Amino acid sequence: MSINLPQLGSHKNELDTPALCVDLDVMEANLHAMVAACRKHGVGWRPHTKCHKSPTIAHKVIDAGALGITCAKLGEAEVMAAGGVQDILIANLIVGPQKVARLVELRRCADPIVCIDHIDQARPMSEAMAAAGLSLRVILEVDIGLQRVGVLPGKPTLELAQQVAALPGLDLAGIMGYEGHLLCIEDQEEKAAAISAALTVLTDTAQMLVDAGLPCPIVSCGGTGSFKFAITHPGISDVQAGGGMFMDAFYRHACQVAEWGHALTVVATIVGRPSPSRAIIDSGKKTMDGSTHRPLVLGRDDIRVESLSAEHGTLHLEPSAESLKIGDRLEFIPGYSDMTCVMHDHFLGFRGDRLEVIWPLEGRGRIR
Ligand SMILES: Cc1ncc(COP(=O)(O)O)c(C=O)c1O
Repeated sequence: MSINLPQLGSHKNELDTPALCVDLDVMEANLHAMVAACRKHGVGWRPHTKCHKSPTIAHKVIDAGALGITCAKLGEAEVMAAGGVQDILIANLIVGPQKVARLVELRRCADPIVCIDHIDQARPMSEAMAAAGLSLRVILEVDIGLQRVGVLPGKPTLELAQQVAALPGLDLAGIMGYEGHLLCIEDQEEKAAAISAALTVLTDTAQMLVDAGLPCPIVSCGGTGSFKFAITHPGISDVQAGGGMFMDAFYRHACQVAEWGHALTVVATIVGRPSPSRAIIDSGKKTMDGSTHRPLVLGRDDIRVESLSAEHGTLHLEPSAESLKIGDRLEFIPGYSDMTCVMHDHFLGFRGDRLEVIWPLEGRGRIR
């Protein structure tokens, strides 16, 4: 273990900073609430792991009732499989001979599901899987308006599904779409209507596959910012929302997610007090994300993060906060949890104020 890591049992006030912390009680409550909400609506949960990249946390969500997990990259899926996770949706397109060869090895020890939106991604996988005597679950990624990846819905998806279903070594397992372009619509009725329209495009397309006699057990979508709309949409089989287990300022304020507590924080120290209304902390944008949303100070609305440079954060203090001095600590809710976690080697997991666990982010840096 690194010499810079604190002793288990340490008090939060004793931490060297900056430190990426998880409130275990809050995270566990969030996980159980997400599982319960999915169950209530008869929907499965494959939470995205891009916010934590940790097989230990992946096992926690599966133990809480998730079907499996979602990863953004093949390399992350390899880390999860090495950590004993079986059901792994790689919500991304996998291209190139090295990756296809790695996918065959991954299939030997886990049961991944891979996205396809063009037959040219499917053929090499089919050949490699068939040659190895294996079969790989694939789902078609459908563009439901995000305009990132995805085959067009309706007939183009049906035609691709027919081609994929005819290939050896691949098991067509369904379709997915991501309504990521609709998360920040302010008016909640407008947001509900826009998400419903996008997901109806997905579920209508799934019905076309079923009507054509094709298998489509998985109809997957949903992020933290759209979770409550996705789980109630008829025809959705499972959702990928993951970051809600941590929560952050982006989900709470830009996506207006009212549920779940803030489990992820950065503890920082005030290192400078250049003026009564200004304080400088030891945490800048190489420590916590402030580009997606301004970080917030846990439990204090009289302190505002004014700006983040690489290694400094500048705070504006209201008069009620002016007694803060050099050496004092503050706890920050990051702007976006994903972009914060990738800058850290470990999560420090606290039960109350005591350090209970240290979890490495094993999947960090696995961008291939
Ligand atoms: C394919 C996909 N699914 C789901 C999500 C939502 O993940 P989260 O709930 O962690 O924000 C994202 C976010 O970028 C995504 O790209």
